[in-house]
Amino acid sequence: MSSSHADKHPQGPAVASTGGPDLQDHLRRLDRLANLGLIAASTAHEIKNGLVAINTFVEMLLEKSEDQEMAGVVQRELKRIDSLVTQMLRFAAPKPAAQSRVNVHHLLDHSLRLLEHPMSGRMIVLKREYHAVPGAILGDEPQLQQALMNLILNAVEAMSGGGELTVSTEIGRNAAGVSRLKIHIRDTGAGIVPENLARVFEAFFTTKKNGTGLGLAICQRVAREHQGELDVVSEVGRGSTFSLLLPVE
Ligand SMILES: Nc1ncnc2c1ncn2[C@@H]1O[C@H](COP(=O)(O)OP(=O)(O)O)[C@@H](O)[C@H]1O
Ligand SMILES: [Mg+2]
Repeated sequence: MSSSHADKHPQGPAVASTGGPDLQDHLRRLDRLANLGLIAASTAHEIKNGLVAINTFVEMLLEKSEDQEMAGVVQRELKRIDSLVTQMLRFAAPKPAAQSRVNVHHLLDHSLRLLEHPMSGRMIVLKREYHAVPGAILGDEPQLQQALMNLILNAVEAMSGGGELTVSTEIGRNAAGVSRLKIHIRDTGAGIVPENLARVFEAFFTTKKNGTGLGLAICQRVAREHQGELDVVSEVGRGSTFSLLLPVE
């Protein structure tokens, strides 16, 4: 899809787009995702039921046990698995997008506030460049928030040694002359090697030790549910820009 695109520009930044021209590849991927969705949804339900039972049992043990630390470790892991499964379920069986008027700048501010803690520990300078007027779209606010938070979190995680996070918005037109609100999340982090660039939107593709590989797959899905698009431009050692393009009302 995008690796061929990237190969044409070995010097410049590599580019991947969800709206790539390789239809065969695209369809194969959709088919894979559909199957994956079915398996994931049914498995996730079973796991969640099991987790409720395990958690009740651990709480009982916790009351009696002397080894509070060990019990704490178990509970923390349970919580982690539970949130992973919740994410999986959200990915596999998303609710249809509920439409309401969403102020994108407020939503960005809110998402950034929620991520203050992981950011403050990393010497990251935050820049806001909100230029989109009007800064509102029709969409599903919780879904959009999840997508934005995934993108911001990825940017933060890519800048382990500090850096600059720029969150910007603008109104642009696509080739067909349709107005779109563009949200760019730019980091000055590690960047993405060209051979991975085409794969970052794949479910379960991760290069992180504790990654789920679901964040960008969810973002892409949210973008599509809004008749939008998610693009990435990245250069190794310089950073990445993820752009969420949404139709304006
Ligand atoms: N801003 C970014 N900078 C560098 N690499 C990124 C960035 N965002 C995503 N990636 C790459 O894409 C992979 C998939 O991301 P994601 O789907 O969010 O899953 P996860 O964050 O759990 O690994 C990451 O593991 C990483 O290799
Ligand atoms: Mg992620």
